[in-house]
Amino acid sequence: MKGIILAGGAGSRLFPMTRSVSKQLIPVYDKPLIYYSLSTLIYTGVKDILCISTSNDQNAFKKLLGNGEQFGVKINYEIQNKPNGIAEAFLIAENFIKNSKCVLILGDNIFYGLENTAKLSKTTFIKGARIFSCEVEDPSRYGVINFNKNKITSIIEKPHKPTSNLAVTGLYFYDDKVTKIVKKLTPSKRRELEITDVNNKYISLNLIDNVIMNNNVVWLDAGTPSSLLQASQFVQTIQDRQNKIICSPEEASLIMKNYSLKDFNKVLKSYPNNDYSNYLRKISKK
Ligand code: DAU
Repeated sequence: MKGIILAGGAGSRLFPMTRSVSKQLIPVYDKPLIYYSLSTLIYTGVKDILCISTSNDQNAFKKLLGNGEQFGVKINYEIQNKPNGIAEAFLIAENFIKNSKCVLILGDNIFYGLENTAKLSKTTFIKGARIFSCEVEDPSRYGVINFNKNKITSIIEKPHKPTSNLAVTGLYFYDDKVTKIVKKLTPSKRRELEITDVNNKYISLNLIDNVIMNNNVVWLDAGTPSSLLQASQFVQTIQDRQNKIICSPEEASLIMKNYSLKDFNKVLKSYPNNDYSNYLRKISKK
C-alpha cells in the first residue's frame, strides 16, 4: 500500500501568511503542519509516500522532509500545477501507485489519538474505499454524509442544509480502482475533480466503509487563522499538561518499527538540543 500527502492549494484563507510560505509548512505550535498528517500516515503502516505540492513550494518540502530517511520512510515528490481538485492527486500519482492500494491524507488535517483505531492500519483494509468521519458543529464547511436508516446513501460537498453532523475528514483509503474512477470524473461547478465524487462512486458500488471516529479522537483543521490558532493551543495544552510531544513522525516510525533504535539514535545525533529532540531522546531510552 502507498501513501499520498496532498500539500498543494493556494492557502487563500490564510493569506498573507501563505504569500511566501505554503500553508502546510506553517507551524502548528512547535512543528510544521505537515508533520501531523505525516505522522498519521506513518501509523497506517505505509512506508512509501508521495508528497504533492505546487512547483513553487516543492524545494521547501524537500528541505524539510528530504528523502524520508529521518522519518524511517521513503518520500517521493510530484507537482500539482493548479489546484484542480483533491481527486487529481490520483492522476498525478498514477505511476507511483501502479496497481497498489493507497491512502490519501490532506496535508492540513490534524488527527490526535487515531493511531489507536484498528481501522487505521493498512492491514485491515482489503477493497473498496474507507473514509473516516467525525461529528462537527458546522458541517456545511465539509463533505457531509447522508444516511437512510444507518446506511450511507451519499456524501454532499458543503451542503447549505446538511442532513447530518457527520463530516468526512481528509483521510481516505482506496483500492487499485481509484485512478480508473477519477479518469471518468468531470470537474464540478467549482472546476475541481472532487474527492466527494470519488466517494459517491464507491457508495453506489456498495463498497464504502465509513469509520466514525470515537470520542477519544480529535480532528482539527488548520485552514483559517482562528482554526490554526486553536490547533496550536490544543497541541500546547496537551503537550505541556502531559509532558510529551504529540504527532511526531519520528515517534510514529519508532512505534511502527520502521527503524532500529540504532538508526533512530543516529537521526537524533543530527538534531539540535531542544524540547522536540529531547523528547525523542527520552522515548528512545524507554
Ligand atoms: O478537510 C476535510 C474536507 O476537505 C472534506 O470534508 C471535504 O469533503 C473535502 O472537499 C475537503 O474540503 P476543503 O474545503 O477543506 O478542501 P480544500 O479545497 O480546502 O483543500 C484541502 C487541502 O487540500 C488544502 O490543504 C489544499 C489541498 N489541495 C486542495 C485542492 C482543491 C490541493 O493540494 N490541491 C487541490 O487541488
